[in-house]
Amino acid sequence: MINLILTLILPAVLILWLKKWKNSKAMNKLPPGPKTLPIIGNLHQISYPTFRCFTDLSKQYGPLMRLKLCGTSAVVVSSPELARQMLKDLDPNYADKPRIVVAEIMFYHASSIVFTPYGDYWRQMRKLCTIELLSPKMVRLFQTIRNDQIGRLINSLRESSGSAVNFTEMILYNSNSITCRAACGGVVKDNETLMKLMLDSTKVITNFEIADMFPSSRIASALSWTKPRIRTMRNKLDVIMDEIIERHKRNRRSGLGNSEFGSEDLVDVFLRVQEEGELKYPITNDNIKAVLYDIFIGGTETSSTTIDWAMVELLRHPEAMAKAQAEVRRVLNENNDERTFKYLKYVIKETLRLHPPAPVLPRASKEEKVIDGYTIPAGQTVLFNIWAMQRDPRYWKDPEKFEPERFENLSVDFLGGDHQFLPFGGGKRMCPGLTFGTTTVESVLAQLLYNFDWKLPAGVTPQDLDITENDGITAARKNNLFVVATPYQ
Ligand code: HEM
Repeated sequence: MINLILTLILPAVLILWLKKWKNSKAMNKLPPGPKTLPIIGNLHQISYPTFRCFTDLSKQYGPLMRLKLCGTSAVVVSSPELARQMLKDLDPNYADKPRIVVAEIMFYHASSIVFTPYGDYWRQMRKLCTIELLSPKMVRLFQTIRNDQIGRLINSLRESSGSAVNFTEMILYNSNSITCRAACGGVVKDNETLMKLMLDSTKVITNFEIADMFPSSRIASALSWTKPRIRTMRNKLDVIMDEIIERHKRNRRSGLGNSEFGSEDLVDVFLRVQEEGELKYPITNDNIKAVLYDIFIGGTETSSTTIDWAMVELLRHPEAMAKAQAEVRRVLNENNDERTFKYLKYVIKETLRLHPPAPVLPRASKEEKVIDGYTIPAGQTVLFNIWAMQRDPRYWKDPEKFEPERFENLSVDFLGGDHQFLPFGGGKRMCPGLTFGTTTVESVLAQLLYNFDWKLPAGVTPQDLDITENDGITAARKNNLFVVATPYQ
C-alpha cells in the first residue's frame, strides 16, 4: 500500500500541486508593456496607423503586450502561435466584442453582427445573413448583378478615353452598388450620403474616444467630444434606413418581392420573420438597420480596398501585372464555363497578406485565462494584430516583398486555420462574407485586367506610388489611386 502511494498517488498529487502553484504565480501577472504615465497610461506612445505602432511596440515588449489607455487597457496579441491558442483552442473565450461608444450609437445599441456580444442573438442574425445573402448558392445567384456592375465600370473607363481616372473612388462605388443591389434590391437612394457616413463611421471607430477610455466615468461620458457628432451621423443614417424599410414594406403589401430576381431580398426576409413573430429573439427595426449597416460597410470597403491595393501592387510590379494579364486573357478567351485563375488568386492572397483591410481584430475575453504565463482577466479588450502576424519572418520569407509566387509552394489559406494568415479573421467571429468578398474581388480584377492595359498618369513612375495607409481602422491607402486605362483590343 505504501508502495502504491509512493509510486502513483504522490507524484500525481505533486504534479497537480506544482501546476496549481505555477498558475497561481501567473495569476495577476499581467502581460508586459511600456511604462505608463499617470492618468493617460500609454496613450502618448500610440501613433497612427495603430497596427504599425503596435507591431513596433511588440518587438520590444513581446507577442503578448498590455497597453494602458487612461482608465482602460488592451492586450495586443502579435504571434500566430498565441492567436491559434486563443482563437482556436480557447474559442469562444475570445469571441466577444469590446463595447464602444460608436457601436452603441451608430450600430443601434451594438445590435449589429459585428458588435453584438457572442450569444444566441448574434447566432440568429448571422445565420439569417449567411442563408439569405452570403452562402455560396446566393453568391452564385448574384453573379448577374456583379456582371452588370462590372459592365458599367468598364463602360465608364472606356469613356475616360486615355485620361487619368480616380480608380479608388470608382471601385468604392462599384463595390457598394454590388452589395446594396444584392442585400436590398437596389442602389440606395441617397448613395452619396451613405458612402460618406460609412467612411466617417470607420474613422470615428479609430479615434480615441474619452468615454471609451474612462468607461466608468460619468464625467468622461458627459465630456465626450465625438458623441454629438456620431448622433448627427446616426440621424442621417436613420433617414436612409427608414426609406429602405418603408419601401420594402410598401412593396410587400402589394405582393412584390424587392430583390432584382422578383423574390425576397435580405430586408424582405427580416421583415417577414419579424411579422411571423416566431424567432427566439424577436427583431426590431433597429436590429434590421444595424445588421444592414454591417453588410453595407462589410461588403463595400473591404472588397474595394483589396482591389485598390492589388492594382497598386501590380502597377508597382510590372512583371506580376504582365503574368496576371496573360493568364486572365488566356482563360477568358478559352470560352470555358469552368474558368479558374491560379495566378490571379495568388495576387489576391498576397495583397490580403500585405494589406489586410481589417489589420487588427478587436475582441473581448469572457473568462480569465492564463496565456503564455500571463493572466488575461475576464472582460479584457484583446487586439489581434494580424498585420504583424502576416509579416512574421518566421513564416514569411522576405515578408515586406510583394511576391504572389510564394503561394505556389505554400499550402497556406485564409480560411481561418493558418494563424499566420488571417485576413478574414478566425474562430467563431470569422468573416461570413468571405465567399461574397473574394468572388467580387476576383471578378472585378479579372475583367479590369482583361479589358484594359494600365498605366500611371504622365510623369508618375511606379516608384512614386506611395504605399502609406490612412489613419483609420482599415488599412486602406492614404491617397486615392489615379490611373490611365487603355482598352485592350
Ligand atoms: C475582401 C473582403 C473582406 C475581408 C478581407 C473581410 C474581413 C473581415 C474581418 C477580418 C472580419 C473580423 C473577423 C474576426 O474578428 O475574426 C470580418 C467580419 C465580418 N465581415 Fe467581412 N470581410 C470581407 C468581406 C465581407 C463582405 C462582402 C461582407 C458582407 C457582405 C462581410 C461581412 C462581415 C460581417 C457581418 C462580419 C462580422 C462577423 C461577426 O462578428 O460574427 N465581410 N470581415
